[in-house]
Amino acid sequence: MSTEVTRLIQSHRSIRKFTDETISPEILSDVLTSGQWAPSSHNVQAYSVIVVRSDESKKQLSIMTGNQKWVEECPVFLVFCADFYKLKQACEMNGETLAADGVENFLVGAVDTALVAQNVLLAARSYGLGGVMIGGIRNNPREVAELLDLPPLTIPIMGMCLGYPAQEVEQKPRLPQQAYIHEERYQKEGIKAALEDYESLSAAYYERRTNGKQTDGWTKQMAHYVNKPRRVHMKEFVKEQGIQLN
Ligand SMILES: Cc1cc2nc3c(=O)[nH]c(=O)nc-3n(C[C@H](O)[C@H](O)[C@H](O)COP(=O)(O)O)c2cc1C
Repeated sequence: MSTEVTRLIQSHRSIRKFTDETISPEILSDVLTSGQWAPSSHNVQAYSVIVVRSDESKKQLSIMTGNQKWVEECPVFLVFCADFYKLKQACEMNGETLAADGVENFLVGAVDTALVAQNVLLAARSYGLGGVMIGGIRNNPREVAELLDLPPLTIPIMGMCLGYPAQEVEQKPRLPQQAYIHEERYQKEGIKAALEDYESLSAAYYERRTNGKQTDGWTKQMAHYVNKPRRVHMKEFVKEQGIQLN
């Protein structure tokens, strides 16, 4: 069973090569408006998006995100920020003090922001655009904040390259559903077998995609990826932006 929407969702793949075609202001406006229609925790709408079109800024952001050339090459680069700055203003307008500290508030901002970003990507794809999210925006958050003039209480969560696709990409297989869907209770028993199946399925995929250069499947890649803390500077950066994670 499927609908137009589920077929669109399930045909997702990240796109990292784009044609020179620009995105019309009308399309971009509709795509960004779709972002705002994501649900939001307590309707805090704790997010903002910075639309970057300037070649010079995209070039700098490409370097800041770890020399990701698609950041420079895409016609539009979006930076999605968790944003408590406007909530502070709302407090000031009403004689209150913002309490932005704590992991829970941070989660609210990050989750709200991610929901917006995914709506934007899906809306963009419905117009024939493609894109990729860029967590590399958190590689050098201070430089990003300076370039984009981000005020206190705003945190770049993810970037997004958008443009018309200039590549055909095989879909990256997802985990078997025993490792995803659990009926009534978490079914630990099925996980290992599912991961073993996925190891060979994903290894074959990576081998095809890299012409034999990458032969590790998902479990091997993840084991090497999640074995150390990443972007440890984020805690300090978030604090510098005025949010103490405690
Ligand atoms: C929050 C987030 C951050 C990501 N950051 C990057 C990134 O910095 N660079 C990149 O090339 N892809 C990035 N990706 C894309 C993922 O690598 C990609 O979604 C994943 O490998 C699955 O592949 P698919 O999207 O083609 O299905 C990111 C995806 C998400 C959701």
